[in-house]
Amino acid sequence: MAVNKLATGRDKAGEKATLQLSKDIKGEGIMSEEKKLTGEVFYPSEAVITRAHAKNWEEICEEAEEDLEGFWAKEANELHWFKKWDKVLDDSQKPFYKWFTGAKTNIVYNCLDRHTQTYRRNKLALIWEGENGEFRSFSYFALRRDTCRFASILKSLGVQKGDRVTIYMGRIPELVIAMLACARIGAIHSVVYGGFSVEALHERLEDSQSKVLVVADGSYQRGKIVHLKQIADEALQRAATVESVLVVKRTGEEVNMEAGRDMWYHELMNLPIAGTTCHIEVMDAEDPLFILYTSGTTGKPKAILHTHGGYMVGVYSTLKYVFDVHEEDRYWCSADPGWITGHSYIVYGPLLNGTTSFMYEGAPTHPFPNRWWQMIEKYGINLLYTAPTAIRGLMRYGEAWPNRYDLSSLRILGSVGEPINPEAWKWYYRVIGKERCPIMDTWWQTETGMFMITPVPTMPLKPGSGTRPFAGLKMDVVNEGGEPVGPNEEGYLVIKNPWPAMIRTIYKDPGRYVEQYWSRFPGMYMTGDSARKDEDGYFWVIGRVDDVIKVSGYRLGTAEIESALVSHPAVAEAAAIGLPHEVKGNAIYSYVMLKSGFEKSDQLAEELRQHVGHEMGPIAKPEKVEFVDSLPKTRSGKIMRRVLKAKALGQDPGNISTLEE
Ligand code: WT7
Repeated sequence: MAVNKLATGRDKAGEKATLQLSKDIKGEGIMSEEKKLTGEVFYPSEAVITRAHAKNWEEICEEAEEDLEGFWAKEANELHWFKKWDKVLDDSQKPFYKWFTGAKTNIVYNCLDRHTQTYRRNKLALIWEGENGEFRSFSYFALRRDTCRFASILKSLGVQKGDRVTIYMGRIPELVIAMLACARIGAIHSVVYGGFSVEALHERLEDSQSKVLVVADGSYQRGKIVHLKQIADEALQRAATVESVLVVKRTGEEVNMEAGRDMWYHELMNLPIAGTTCHIEVMDAEDPLFILYTSGTTGKPKAILHTHGGYMVGVYSTLKYVFDVHEEDRYWCSADPGWITGHSYIVYGPLLNGTTSFMYEGAPTHPFPNRWWQMIEKYGINLLYTAPTAIRGLMRYGEAWPNRYDLSSLRILGSVGEPINPEAWKWYYRVIGKERCPIMDTWWQTETGMFMITPVPTMPLKPGSGTRPFAGLKMDVVNEGGEPVGPNEEGYLVIKNPWPAMIRTIYKDPGRYVEQYWSRFPGMYMTGDSARKDEDGYFWVIGRVDDVIKVSGYRLGTAEIESALVSHPAVAEAAAIGLPHEVKGNAIYSYVMLKSGFEKSDQLAEELRQHVGHEMGPIAKPEKVEFVDSLPKTRSGKIMRRVLKAKALGQDPGNISTLEE
């Protein structure tokens, strides 16, 4: 197949770029002139290459391959440590790997204090725009000040190192402040996505045994108000460990304040105890930083645990190389801080790199589909990181919307959450990036903490492929027996060596950690994804192979949706599957068996959809509820979702020899 030199209107620059790459970059020669890459390839421009941190990427990767610990030690040395490590990697108790053992640090010192001691003190750390057009900004100085004030409040409420604090709000600056305040005093934050609802919040409060809940009165969602405090009140009736509830005023709506338990954030922040200098807890590199719940194959969501040291180094380094962060940049990650993307690449990564991070409260198309492009022009955003579902959603409204705005500040684009279809990739590249901005299609997970399969801006790109693993990582595609498959063959995506931002354990459940990730293929981390690797070593992620559904890039477990359905009095049994959806990637379809005495009706179907929304949150609402008289099951009683899916898609269900009837 022909190599597409692309770079329309910039053929010269494009050509030079290729030449320069072949000169600069040695190694397997994947970028050399002699060995052409297969398929449709997009080359970086000279402008991007010359200033890139990843200018000598092949060399960096080779070095990291030879000396993994040396590579990560070098990256770690760019950050501040109260005490340096004795050992970079301790694998004596694998799969419970430890990184930077013996080192002392605090991620917040590196996010804030390190910068306020330099010229960055008055640089903007965070710019925020509300859905209603409100605007706020924080310099590094101001963000540190408010973090210290809130940290002092948490301390005065008795929060100690290792205690859990749950945070539940929309995309507002106080969410960032609350996270940083916890980390500053060594408390473990557990952020619950503001789009989740009663049962999801209750489950997470209960499992984490949180002492404090930080919540907003409400949040704006496409012009409507989501009553977060009201949802929290309902969840709190079922959760016993929470002693204090701190309420941030966002919408100003009337909320119930329980005496002795609930306090207003803004009132506390003005008390003399809210000191602007709060002692920073000196943390062991392996001390927990946060837990974040994510959906797995079975049962309840799992609390993924990340630490101060390794997570910090991994997130810092990956953002630097992949988004090529420079001093003058303004960076925008459109994700929600309630998910790992927001933790790593709205909050910690950008602050560790001393960059200016922009955060927007609302939806991309509210009130009009111009909103994002308008803000890119208004704030001069240079680096934009978003999700395929958002791109597909915006594509539908046509090019005229973005074309009205000056998007020339953009330099690098990014994508995450699910495979990006080539059409959406090309639209993003052409219409938003004007064929100037390389797209970083980053594959990673809540568990990996940082980018794993990802391009850097100097690499040739293929639409739909995340290219290759980040420096130092050994990843592969294997068959049922754990053997590598041939080029372009589909198999299980696995990780063969440790990385600093890796999950340390499932909180309170180390057995499940080993079981879930390390038992299927001994010595390898199982990602739960299927993928193939092409003849150029480029990875193409296909999707989940387990019972996890990616809806608009959000990760949901079929088990959780099913138990939400079954918690309704009319439902005897339920099954949920994901079916392809043009914008969302996947949409949830559910099959319900009613208890005797209940009649099938459209009204009941709608009631069940609302019920799932109430328990779990609007994203989990099934697209369709279908009533059935039986569900396909194995003889051992497991629902065969594969069979339901094949039937819905009009496909052959494959091997059904284990089917009960
Ligand atoms: C799953 C992890 C990590 C950020 C957000 C999601 C899918 C993620 C990509 C990508 C293809 C992707 C995988 C993965 N995924 N990024 N660039 N290309 N698939 O984190 O909620 O833990 O979900 O998202 O299936 O396993 P998460």
